[in-house]
Amino acid sequence: MTDAESLANGFVDSIDLEAPPSDAELFDGEITVASRIVDFLSSGLYESPAACLKELINNSYDADAKKVEVLVKPEADQIVISDDGIGLTRDEFVTHFKRVSESHKRDHRSKTPSGRPLVGRIGIGLIAANELCDAMEITSTKKGHPEKLRVTINFAAMREDPTGRDRRENGDDGIAFKKGDFEGWVETAPKSHHYTRIFLRRITDSARKIFVGAPRGVMTAGRDSLYGLSPDSVVKKLEKPNLRSWSEFDEYSQTMLEVGLNVPVRYAPNWIPRDVRSRVADLEREVDEADFTLFYDGTDVRKPTVLRAPEGHFLRRFSFDGEAVSARGYFFAKRKVLHPQELNGLLIRIRRAAVADYDGGWMDFSATENRLFQDWVSAEIWADDRLEDALNIDRRTLRVTHPAYVELQAAVHEQLSDVLKEARDLFYTQRSKTRRVSQAREQIDRVHEIASDHGVRLPRVQRSNQLGSGSEPDEKRAIRRAVAKMTVSEVYGIALEVAQEELSPKQYQKFASALAARLLK
Ligand SMILES: Nc1ncnc2c1ncn2[C@@H]1O[C@H](COP(=O)(O)OP(=O)(O)OP(=O)(O)O)[C@@H](O)[C@H]1O
Ligand SMILES: [Mg+2]
Repeated sequence: MTDAESLANGFVDSIDLEAPPSDAELFDGEITVASRIVDFLSSGLYESPAACLKELINNSYDADAKKVEVLVKPEADQIVISDDGIGLTRDEFVTHFKRVSESHKRDHRSKTPSGRPLVGRIGIGLIAANELCDAMEITSTKKGHPEKLRVTINFAAMREDPTGRDRRENGDDGIAFKKGDFEGWVETAPKSHHYTRIFLRRITDSARKIFVGAPRGVMTAGRDSLYGLSPDSVVKKLEKPNLRSWSEFDEYSQTMLEVGLNVPVRYAPNWIPRDVRSRVADLEREVDEADFTLFYDGTDVRKPTVLRAPEGHFLRRFSFDGEAVSARGYFFAKRKVLHPQELNGLLIRIRRAAVADYDGGWMDFSATENRLFQDWVSAEIWADDRLEDALNIDRRTLRVTHPAYVELQAAVHEQLSDVLKEARDLFYTQRSKTRRVSQAREQIDRVHEIASDHGVRLPRVQRSNQLGSGSEPDEKRAIRRAVAKMTVSEVYGIALEVAQEELSPKQYQKFASALAARLLK
């Protein structure tokens, strides 16, 4: 039995809510949502199942869970998110869901008891699941509380005609629309228990297709799957040089990768070349210390950032301390286009959770400046809380006029500009010069070959290994001295060497052929 299977079996018993015990305290109610956010919720705020799912996982993180288990396979007819966090009481549930208008998480603190900076701040992440399913069941018990909450939210009501759901006559400030119903009960539970299990039921067809992806072990239309793999095996798949995009995996795997990119899980084993790894150790350490593990159908999910660059790379740290915001991170540049393409661009994290995914537009960087090299860089920056003010409700976009954004943007652009120049110098100018010189050397060797075939001996001119040194005074003097002592054919050899340094490959080829022709006359 695989990890995934044993995990799935363990859950089967608890999946169906049985009838309440006779001493259970029943309750029910209506969920209303502030008009401020109602439009966002009904307009598909979260553009993919992964975006909804990551909200639930970040909630587990905020609840100080060390371990979250997500079960999707085999059919995704229901999805389970189970954590060992602090849990939720009925009172907390009712307070939040009777009037969804804001998050109360940060009312008294901005960190969890274990010291994690809280990700939640808006108060809509949990009901975002209405985009995935018609019903959500929550089973939760909180440490120190002798009760277990079991409640079902019916989202189907949300799809009804809005006029029937208008609750504005209630006179509630800003609370406008009914978004669903809930019913449940509280039963007794040992005080020491603490966990939350969320069951998403009646998953919509479109979400289900994405969640399921390929059937187990089967490649659909040539697409590979990450189902059931260890972190090392996932890395092996992600580092394949011919992997151009995550879309080469099935949708199941893409969802897993998107979730892993967003939530505060650890980096993958050997995610970045060894020679630069120690320079990002502080970022690694921070997520290691948060001690947060996500099992997705048994797979220990890591950040899908896997950077490989056998043809050459460099890393620049980014460190910015401005008036309105501070941030730190790294810019990783490699020779040639960075693949998979999902890692090309800038990833911003606030409170360890990502804002959207990699931004290939680099916060609106000039599209023309060193365009070629913009595709060679992957950067990640962790900004301080002040950037959170600039975060829109969708948690995917930042307000571009916010002072923290404006300041960070300028700093990022400055650094990117430098990195692009460096990439051009290091990987391109020097490389292309090397290429030109080596082509020229091939040509000169051909001339020697042709000449010797015809019994003409040309002098072998000692070659300088140092590129670009042809114009240095020492060498010039040495050439002049050598020319004085040389025969005519030796001077021809020198001429070839000079041509090799000075001419474009095309011009050189012409020159070398003409020279050979002249010698052979
Ligand atoms: N896994 C969980 N464990 C314990 N409590 C939870 C869990 N998930 C949700 N909650 C409770 O439900 C509330 C609502 O969660 P929701 O994600 O909607 O809002 P939020 O996290 O406060 O803000 P945001 O919308 O920014 O995520 C949380 O504030 C928290 O009290
Ligand atoms: Mg949340």
